[in-house]
This record gives sequence, C-alpha cells and structure tokens, in this order.
Amino acid sequence: MSIPYYPLKLIKKEFETEKTCSFYFKVPEDHKKLFQYKTAQFLTFRFYIQGKEYIRSYSLASSPFLNENLMTTVGKVEQGVVSNYMLSELKEGDTVESQIPLGEFFHLPKDLKSKDFVLFAGGIGITPLFSILKTTLETGLARKIYLIFSIRSLKDFIYKKNLKELENKFKNQFQIKLIISESHGRLNPDKITKLLDNLEPTKTCFYLCGPKDYMTMISKHLLKLGNHKNSIYTEDFNIIPIRGPKPDEDSIIFNAKQSSEGEPKILKSFLNGEEIEIPLNREKSLLEQLIDQGYNPPFSCTSGSCMSCMARLKEGKIFQLQEGILDEENIKNLEILSCQCYPLSETVHIDYDNL
Ligand SMILES: Cc1cc2nc3c(=O)[nH]c(=O)nc-3n(C[C@H](O)[C@H](O)[C@H](O)COP(=O)(O)OP(=O)(O)OC[C@H]3O[C@@H](n4cnc5c(N)ncnc54)[C@H](O)[C@@H]3O)c2cc1C
Ligand code: FES
Repeated sequence: MSIPYYPLKLIKKEFETEKTCSFYFKVPEDHKKLFQYKTAQFLTFRFYIQGKEYIRSYSLASSPFLNENLMTTVGKVEQGVVSNYMLSELKEGDTVESQIPLGEFFHLPKDLKSKDFVLFAGGIGITPLFSILKTTLETGLARKIYLIFSIRSLKDFIYKKNLKELENKFKNQFQIKLIISESHGRLNPDKITKLLDNLEPTKTCFYLCGPKDYMTMISKHLLKLGNHKNSIYTEDFNIIPIRGPKPDEDSIIFNAKQSSEGEPKILKSFLNGEEIEIPLNREKSLLEQLIDQGYNPPFSCTSGSCMSCMARLKEGKIFQLQEGILDEENIKNLEILSCQCYPLSETVHIDYDNL
C-alpha cells in the first residue's frame, strides 16, 4: 500500500445532530510531528468491515492554531458502508488507522488584511469550513467573515452551539446566514446576489464545500457577479467518477517507455503483491476498471484530492484529468492518481506496490 497508516485513538464521540457525529482523536506521542496539519486538511482512514477493506477521507474540523484534538464530523449516508459503521459501531477507546493529514483546500490570499471571507457550506460540507472559520477568526486573519450555511431544517444545524458562541465572541467580524430549505427554499443565484450585496468582488474570497450541484451553481454565479476564479476555492466530497472523458487543457499526459498509441487493450498492474492483467477500455478510469474486475485497489475520494489511489506508471501512455493533489516531484516520477487516469496506449502498466 502506498501511503502508510498510523494508529489514532478515538477519545471522544459526540453526536452533533441526529445524523452527524463528531470524532475526536488522540495522536500517539511518536507521531505528533507527522500529524501536524494545515487548516481544513483531511484524514484518510482505513477500515476493515466484514472482512473487506474500505478507505475513506474525512475533513478536519479542528484548527491547527488552537490546542484542539484532531476532530472530524461524519454525516450518515443512506446505505453508506463507512459512515454508518463509524456512527453506529465505532466506540470511544477504539483505535483507527489513518494516513497523515493531506489536502490543499485552504489557500490564503496575498493581500490578506483587505479581504473578506465568505464560506458557503452545504450540510456536512461545514466540516472543513469550521476549521477555516476558527483559524481565520482566532488568528485575526480576515477583515469580515460570513458563513452561508444551507441546511434542510433547524434539526440539521451542525456545530450550532459553537457557531453561536463564535458569533457572539466576534460580533463585529463574523455573521452566520442560515438558509433553511424546508422553510425558505434552497439557496439560488438571486439569494446569493442579495446576500453578497455589500461585498466588493476584488476584495472577497470564497470557500465552498457541499453537494456537487450546489458548488457548481455557486461558483458559476460568483463568476457572473465579477469574482475571479482564483478567489473561489472548493473542496469536493463527491464520490461519483466521471466517465469516458477526453484530455483537455487541465490534463497531464504521462508517458512511460514502450508505449504504442492506439485502442487500449491491456491493463497490467502490481497490486497487493499480485501481478494482474485485465482488459482495458477508454471509458473508465484505471482505478474503476480494476474494481470492476473484482480487484481491491486503494482509493478514497475518487476526485484527485487524497492520494490514496496513487500508483507508478511503468509502461504506456495515459492522461490524468487534472493535476489534483500531485506535486512536481510526483509528476516527474510518473506517480499518478489512478482514479483520474485514462489510457491512451494499447498497453498500460501501473504499480501500486513499489512507490
Ligand atoms: C477530501 C474529502 C473529505 C471528506 N470529508 C468528509 C467529512 O468531513 N464528513 C463526511 O461525512 N464525509 C466526508 N467525505 C465523504 C466520505 O469520504 C465518504 O465518501 C462518505 O462518508 C460516504 O462513505 P460511505 O462508505 O459511508 O458510503 P459508500 O458505501 O461509499 O456509499 C455512498 C453512497 O453512494 C452510493 N455509491 C457508492 N458508489 C457509487 C458510485 N460509484 N456511483 C454512484 N453512487 C455510488 C452508495 O449507494 C451510497 O448511497 C469526504 C470526502 C473527501 C474526498
Ligand atoms: S482516490 Fe483520492 S486521489 Fe484518487
């Protein structure tokens, strides 16, 4: 397996609402340095449930600037394996396995003192935004901060007590705008225009986390209102892979030796100590094709943001939809995110075991 896992002890489990639960973890002394994290990064856990391995990422809602234990909040997903397991089975005192914190959601604008921050949270998407909120408020980073929090009903108001306390403590700086869909309808472009009425596009930056359609609608409207795309940051919890895409300007081409371009035919892979060979097609990501054939490659987000699915390209030509979380060194070493990669040559050989 590419990225190592470390034990974390669950020291507190607390329901925030009926369907969301916060988990507080203690890092063993030996690993404290490894688990130093940046605001709004995420942890990737590995669970074995009924004999099967599951890897899932969860954003940290704690802030590295406060002396808090690592904390994430998990929302129950209908028929979701890991979320249901965590909410109903995991107990205080249990040990879980986690990768070190990863992720690049929180970027700071250069001319910080002149900036207002607007955080758009849809339901459980509040998790990384709570980390951003605490960091920016407690360290005095931003001028004004608005949290626009979309929830179905007041019963779904995650972190209600903590958010209200922050609003009181930072009266002149922080405001919560709740959008309760059951009583007032969903957030839409008209409401966004009204809510942002007093803000100047060039002096505001936006952090978005929530369902895919919600984030797309907000991003599009923010651009229409004259905001620059570099001032809009998103975190994607989405788990549905894109099918059959073509390379575009955001894609990266990886080319290893002996590649003969043409209709993809064979995917070879070193995986969990086995040498595998399966038929290959253009329609699905390399990761998905292995899963479809009954193999168990590592993955979590399927959206290029966690590194769980990293492998090294040994042969063939492929494209990766976008850079995702890779850095220059990864790209130079032909380290790819297999959830984002599609074949361009007849044979593709990837190695999960030797990174
Ligand atoms: C960077 C990142 C941070 C995240 N942070 C958080 C967080 O802070 N809190 C949180 O609650 N979640 C977070 N998530 C989401 C989390 O990782 C899980 O995806 C979520 O908990 C669901 O996992 P599960 O095992 O319960 O559900 P799964 O068993 O994976 O299933 C989820 C649902 O999707 C359906 N489904 C499964 N596979 C497919 C498919 N291929 N196509 C269509 N539908 C499918 C299932 O039927 C089910 O309804 C984050 C994800 C990422 C990538
Ligand atoms: S599964 Fe997260 S980057 Fe591929």
